[in-house]
Amino acid sequence: MSLKGKVAVVTGGSRGIGRAIALRLARDGALVCVNYQSNADAAKAVVGEIGSAGGEAFALQADVGSVDQLGRFFESLDAELIGRRGDRGFDILVNNAGIAVVGPTATATEADFDRVFAINVKGPFFTTQHAIPRLRDGGRVVNVSSGLSRRPMPQYSAYSMTKAAIDTFTIALAAELGGRGITVNTLAPGLTATDMNAGMLDNPDVGRAFASMTALGRVGKVEDIADAVALLASPEAGWVTGQYVEASGGLGLVMPGFGSH
Ligand SMILES: NC(=O)c1ccc[n+]([C@@H]2O[C@H](COP(=O)([O-])OP(=O)(O)OC[C@H]3O[C@@H](n4cnc5c(N)ncnc54)[C@H](OP(=O)(O)O)[C@@H]3O)[C@@H](O)[C@H]2O)c1
Repeated sequence: MSLKGKVAVVTGGSRGIGRAIALRLARDGALVCVNYQSNADAAKAVVGEIGSAGGEAFALQADVGSVDQLGRFFESLDAELIGRRGDRGFDILVNNAGIAVVGPTATATEADFDRVFAINVKGPFFTTQHAIPRLRDGGRVVNVSSGLSRRPMPQYSAYSMTKAAIDTFTIALAAELGGRGITVNTLAPGLTATDMNAGMLDNPDVGRAFASMTALGRVGKVEDIADAVALLASPEAGWVTGQYVEASGGLGLVMPGFGSH
């Protein structure tokens, strides 16, 4: 799958799943904009790694939960792309940036609720709104959701709600942009080892428990998710739109004691 000549924007590309997506799309030949919120050194390191491997990337800061910051982000993106490619168009948007708030509904605060909805729902919505006039016909939007949007867990109610909103956004947007040949799909990771859940996976029993419920017998790696995003972003996926694709190794398919593990 070649993305030679394509331009990709990955929100939250400095760490975790977004970092792996940025590296993978660059390896496939895309020029990648690595968005980050606060971790400039990590974003610079991703850009450096891509450059050392012969690819091209640049980093741009913005809190996707702030519509003001998104406005400034896209002005800077325009300037970068005009400088590098002669026009502001791009081909692939990966709405990956996200946070989790974890805790029982009974004690959730309004501030936490507003924050997780701002970053996980308002962020992809308004990032995409800014992207629409810039995305080239035949482009790709990949929205990173979560398996929890369909199978919520205790302690993750608000987070799961944000991801269900993203799943619905994908379907509406696929219908809106289909006339331009732009595909829009949801990629829903299962449990994947990143900073987001490092605290949970520090306990090896948790990793073992999830692995025992997973058809492929382990917890996800960021590269697993990046490979699946690359599939949806590829020219070969041009007839796939409005879909929910789970990349979880088959989490929940095995009942411990009754499966193959
Ligand atoms: N890990 C999992 O098990 C899992 C499972 C299902 C779905 N997901 C989803 O996958 C996506 C990536 O998660 P992850 O596990 O890779 O998380 P992570 O390791 O915590 O990394 C989060 C990334 O998002 C960026 N970010 C956070 N808030 C942002 C904001 N307001 N504006 C712009 N960037 C922001 C961070 O930038 P800084 O470096 O600047 O902080 C960082 O690059 C999220 O949407 C998450 O919900 C993860």
